[in-house]
Amino acid sequence: MNINERLNQLFENPGKENILYFLKTRDADEIDALYRFADNVRKQFVGDAVHLRAIIEFSNYCQQGCLYCGINKTNKKINRYRMKPDEIVAAACEAYRAGYKTVVLQSGEDPHYSRKDYRYIIKEIKQCGELAVTLSIGEKTRDDYRAYFTAGADRFLLKHETSDHTLLEALAPVRKAKNRIKRLKSLKTIGFQTGGGIMIGLPGQTLTSIADDILLFRKLDLDMIGCGPFIPHPETPTGKAENGSEELTYRVLALNRIVTRDTHLPATTSLSTLNETDARKLALQRGANVIMPNLTPPKYRKYYEIYPNKNRIEADTEAFRTELETLIASLGRHISTTPGHREPRGAGAYMRNGD
Ligand code: 5AD
Repeated sequence: MNINERLNQLFENPGKENILYFLKTRDADEIDALYRFADNVRKQFVGDAVHLRAIIEFSNYCQQGCLYCGINKTNKKINRYRMKPDEIVAAACEAYRAGYKTVVLQSGEDPHYSRKDYRYIIKEIKQCGELAVTLSIGEKTRDDYRAYFTAGADRFLLKHETSDHTLLEALAPVRKAKNRIKRLKSLKTIGFQTGGGIMIGLPGQTLTSIADDILLFRKLDLDMIGCGPFIPHPETPTGKAENGSEELTYRVLALNRIVTRDTHLPATTSLSTLNETDARKLALQRGANVIMPNLTPPKYRKYYEIYPNKNRIEADTEAFRTELETLIASLGRHISTTPGHREPRGAGAYMRNGD
């Protein structure tokens, strides 16, 4: 098969062998062809708009002990913080006033906030204006998820991290890998636009399992997929492992674009920590259509250290937005002026007005 046939097959009928081929090839022309193909699929299926999602990291307390994560409960060297519900609402409304159309509320798995707290926060944020609310708060019960949705939350992010169940259960001992997939399915049936993702380059991860992850994304028909390199955090048991590879992360991004076509794919912050000057641009040219700027109030930002140097890159919110505007325009693209929901795919896909 020549490279064009391979790419067409990847697009029409992706199989594990073919995905693995592109994860492994060292041929610069083939890699380049993969990226160009992904960029065309991006243009055809999601267009030139780049969606900006403002992240507010509202608590770094976490009851999980994931071996890769800097805010896991056993790390005694970080200062823990929790924003009050009204502080979270104020930060979200500020993001709205700064021009953002989506806020992503992210935290460790912190049982402190009740279902009632979340409902209050979501409803209040919805009073600010037309602002999509994404939650990224971990494993909760189905009834909790339903309560957030009926309060008005639009989207939910829950990464499955790796489809290698043995590896996940070794790295995140209290997690049951199967439960993550079950939860993703459940979030979808509740009506959320649902996001997943993996880390790339986890110690012990194989390319074969990454190919499985990409096929799983397609099977789950996710609305958003965030994949970033693993970055070792010195205060964790995996602190001496190697970084995930920047190059492999672009390949996974391009493959996700070709295989899932119209999914929202961010240029992740962890990718930018590996290449501060060029990663966003390269990711946008290789399949990405989303950037997630950090709008956590500055006094808390440095404590949300999932991995080292996470917050170095975008210290000044306004300057960062201007920088993004320039970058996006230089690529002939534009910042989306809508909340940027994924288009419905068929009867009953998403039922809320305007989605
Ligand atoms: N390097 C990169 N990403 C990480 N995450 C957690 N720890 C790390 C790390 N060391 C990612 C996980 C998690 C998200 C919030 O951050 O994918 O789901």
